[in-house]
Amino acid sequence: EEQRRESLMIVTAYAAKFFHESLLDTDEGKSIGLSYFKERGFSTEIIKKFELGYSPDQWEAFTGTAIKEGYQQQFLEESGLSVKRDNGTLYDRYRGRVMFPIHSFTGRIIAFGGRTLKKDKNVPKYVNSPESEIYHKSNVLYGLYFAKKAIREEDNCYLVEGYADVLSVVQAGIENVVASSGTSLTTEQIRLISRFTKNITILYDGDAAGIKASLRGLDMILEEGLNVKVVSFPDGHDPDSYVRSVGTNAFKKHIDENKKDFILYKAGILLKEAGTDPIKKAEIIREIVESIAKIPDSIKASVFIKECSYILQIDERALLSELNKMRQAKA
Ligand code: UTP
Ligand code: MN
Ligand code: MN
Ligand code: MN
Ligand code: MN
Repeated sequence: EEQRRESLMIVTAYAAKFFHESLLDTDEGKSIGLSYFKERGFSTEIIKKFELGYSPDQWEAFTGTAIKEGYQQQFLEESGLSVKRDNGTLYDRYRGRVMFPIHSFTGRIIAFGGRTLKKDKNVPKYVNSPESEIYHKSNVLYGLYFAKKAIREEDNCYLVEGYADVLSVVQAGIENVVASSGTSLTTEQIRLISRFTKNITILYDGDAAGIKASLRGLDMILEEGLNVKVVSFPDGHDPDSYVRSVGTNAFKKHIDENKKDFILYKAGILLKEAGTDPIKKAEIIREIVESIAKIPDSIKASVFIKECSYILQIDERALLSELNKMRQAKA
């Protein structure tokens, strides 16, 4: 079992080296992959630090080389690097993609995300490694290995959606950043972060999906006793595109001036949705008090009740009695 995991990590590390060298040292890699990263503004330093790569646009470039080097088919397949054909032979899962290796929080490469370079809407933008004995998506945060020291020092963790967001934000000199990789946050991921800090600042995409995603995972973060702030970006921007368009200083300024406590952020969004409809308004009040009821610290909870009573224009005592009802129902 331990040996199988070790074998999987060895083949994964080998693949990362293969993709990285193919990006930096081959004509195809340089003219397609490296020029793509350069056009996106990623520095050589970032490319090397995160061990970015390129998978040649052929069916067996990686698999064939790996087999020649003596790697066993079983591990190539289980790691998800190779896919089995009906006739039993293997082909490359990643072809003609730029590669983002995913590190465990101890720094070993355990999986990959591969981004297509095609504009074709029928091609999936990212292909990710399947679950394996070394890769459990729900307990991994992209970038945590590189970020954990800064997270502890800053006593705050920035949470973004995507690989590119992590790279651009780090390149801008903000190193305490990790990505949830597009899925909603899991309890395991939150517990990972809470080893290093109790403060999370969410920087999600400024599109409807990003905002919804940021509302979803968050009650869970509150339950874990963490403090959550949210920053939104102008529509159509994500942290990567925004920092590249305005520069590091303006990006930091935007974060400082726009970070809102999660509960108040949520209250604002829901309130806008409800408009003046009294039934909808009653619903959102319940929803917000539900979030507040998840906060284990009762003093913190009562501060939020006060602020929400102001935002929602509802008597504080009404909110408090709703809160107590929910607490009793839970107990
Ligand atoms: P986005 O669609 O916001 O992509 O998905 P992005 O990170 O901004 O990518 P670029 O800038 O176009 O290169 C956010 C994250 O969701 C996951 C990836 O982890 C991605 O970084 N995702 C997205 C997938 O796993 N598969 C997909 O097809 C799309
Ligand atoms: Mn396991
Ligand atoms: Mn998005
Ligand atoms: Mn992006
Ligand atoms: Mn994005």
